[in-house]
Amino acid sequence: MTAPAPIIAPSILAADFARLADEVRAVEGVADWLHVDVMDNHFVPNLTIGLPVVQSLLAATELPFDVHLMIEDPRRWAPAYADAGAYNVTFHAEASDNPVALAKDLRAAGAKAGLAIDRDTPLEPYLELLPSFDTLLIMTIKAGFGGQRFIPGLLDKVRLARRHADAGHLELRIEVDGGIAADTIEAAAQAGADAFVAGTAVYGASDPGAAVTALRGLAERSVRTT
Ligand code: DX5
Ligand code: ZN
Repeated sequence: MTAPAPIIAPSILAADFARLADEVRAVEGVADWLHVDVMDNHFVPNLTIGLPVVQSLLAATELPFDVHLMIEDPRRWAPAYADAGAYNVTFHAEASDNPVALAKDLRAAGAKAGLAIDRDTPLEPYLELLPSFDTLLIMTIKAGFGGQRFIPGLLDKVRLARRHADAGHLELRIEVDGGIAADTIEAAAQAGADAFVAGTAVYGASDPGAAVTALRGLAERSVRTT
């Protein structure tokens, strides 16, 4: 079986927000998705941007948006991001009492639907829901802040997800988020991830576009082909 090409998704959380449009342009044509972290200061302690800023940014680039909602009450807010034109809208399992219903709403609004699993959340209870989703985002840190150290033990969840997705022939992107860099992306790819969020490793580099290309090369070498 041929594995799908890896997705590299720079996270703008590590970008210079005063020059956001330029920072996005620096990865345009190189990155696959733009990862946009929405935090509400309730689900996580941090606060970032909301719908009006995301709408402006959508108008400034052709890159598909991978919106990662770290917010409470995603049923109330998530569909608006799909309506605004986000390619993929991911919400947290911990914040949702009916993930499948929200996934249906997102797909009906024309977006891919993503389910995120935070550091301390086991994956097992959610495995049976995965046919309703296009993306499974497995945090490789505790959600809330960029620049944290990658936690290798969380790749056990990636391995479990990969086994489950392959056994069920699911069309599911398995995405990792947190501490993904040149020294961690290969392990994540070998565990079965095929979409990679990278904030600090891209926007902390002197040439963000070149950093994306380098990460892609490492992921391509390691993404599992069986
Ligand atoms: C953190 C965010 C991440 C963050 C990753 O909660 O979900 O997307 O930007 O940043 P790095 O790549 O620096 O760990
Ligand atoms: Zn994220």
